[in-house]
Amino acid sequence: MKKSISRPVTFQRRRSTAALTRSAVLKLCAGNMLPDSGAFVFRALAFLFFISAGVFFWFVLFRSAHYSLYLPFPFPLPVPRAAPSSFNNNNWPATFGLILPSDPSEVGNSPPENEELRLERVLKDAAMEDHTVILTTLNEAWAAPDSVIDLFLESFRIGDHTRRYLNHLVIIALDQKAFARCLILHNHCFTLVTEGVDFSGEAYFMTSDYLKMMWRRIDFLRSVLEMGYNFIFSDADIMWFRDPFPHFLPNADFQIACDHFLGDPYNVNNRPNGGFNYVRSNNRSIEFYKFWYSSRETYPGLHDQDVLNIIKFDPFIMNIGLEMRFLDTAHFGGLCEPSKDLNLVSTMHANCCFGLESKLHDLRIMLQDWKEYMSLPPSLKRSSEATWRVPQNCSLDALQSIQLYDSKDKYLQTG
Ligand SMILES: *[C@@H]1O[C@H](CO)[C@@H](O)[C@H](O)[C@H]1NC(C)=O
Ligand SMILES: *[C@@H]1O[C@H](CO)[C@@H](O)[C@H](O)[C@H]1NC(C)=O
Repeated sequence: MKKSISRPVTFQRRRSTAALTRSAVLKLCAGNMLPDSGAFVFRALAFLFFISAGVFFWFVLFRSAHYSLYLPFPFPLPVPRAAPSSFNNNNWPATFGLILPSDPSEVGNSPPENEELRLERVLKDAAMEDHTVILTTLNEAWAAPDSVIDLFLESFRIGDHTRRYLNHLVIIALDQKAFARCLILHNHCFTLVTEGVDFSGEAYFMTSDYLKMMWRRIDFLRSVLEMGYNFIFSDADIMWFRDPFPHFLPNADFQIACDHFLGDPYNVNNRPNGGFNYVRSNNRSIEFYKFWYSSRETYPGLHDQDVLNIIKFDPFIMNIGLEMRFLDTAHFGGLCEPSKDLNLVSTMHANCCFGLESKLHDLRIMLQDWKEYMSLPPSLKRSSEATWRVPQNCSLDALQSIQLYDSKDKYLQTG
């Protein structure tokens, strides 16, 4: 974990450099009190100072290759639009404007090439030898301290040989706060911008913003496949307790976890859950993601998981030869259908859960149960009748009474 400790230090250094420059700038701006002629010389000197301070500032930044990935990100630095001629007011001088995009709105509309380049860098850094990455998405609510992301990362640390997968995990931040928290917690972070949507607040289930976010994700995953990367996509409310790879099925293009598993990984009547899937990059999977994404227009108002439940029967899938498999809840369980045997569990999803507080409550108990199991001596583990004490607050009764049943209530919050 050396890396994730050293990153925040770099981050701090960058911030303190900014603070230093800022205080220097403020002092110099006090020079407005000088008489006019003196003020002119002063302004010229100040301008030179700002240029060199800016160059230094960016030199420090670029020395950290990782951070250069994130430059288009709109940090809350006051960004000046002022040209040097309007230098003598107390607004921010033009230093940063020479380098940063001067209009914050440009950041959100950064050209696609730019996003692609950033993405390629992050994926390359995080990929396993066989070009596989682990991806999760994160918004502000889940990024808060002691919220879902902390529990997610903790599961990798207390899981059985899962810690190494943190090196291959890329956190896709959907808003600025999520991105800032990612930088503190983790060393592979990426911001995904969606035009015209603010994902930072609570995106309620089935609102148009929620739908846009879910569909943006499908389109994004298609681009990851097109870059030649296989991925495991895992929602952050899925705890990683054991290496999932031994439990994936051979010769499959697209494998997905289930809310309810009927016993046969080939049976299309299984109820898949889009929160966890393993996809191999090839022509079939790329075609499939394009088809899935375009199907949002065929079935307007539905989210990706509901559409998947319809298109999984479509002859198109057989025509392109996509091999789809449904993963057994014995290994890839959840609160809908837990992995009852702790000797078999690989991942556990806080699905079938309404409300963030309930979700956090049950996830904490889940982690506690796992720790207790792990502390047992091997003989007791094998004979153990230890099982989960969850679901508790995530109960189906609660769900049904609110008539909002959906196992993927990722952004559903009681507020
Ligand atoms: C995908 O298909 C194209 C042509 O249709 C072919 O050239 C390419 O090798 C295929 N790629 C893979 C990964 O199968
Ligand atoms: C969990 O449920 C219990 C019993 O219904 C309740 O007292 C408690 O406040 C709930 N906790 C959370 C965090 O929702």
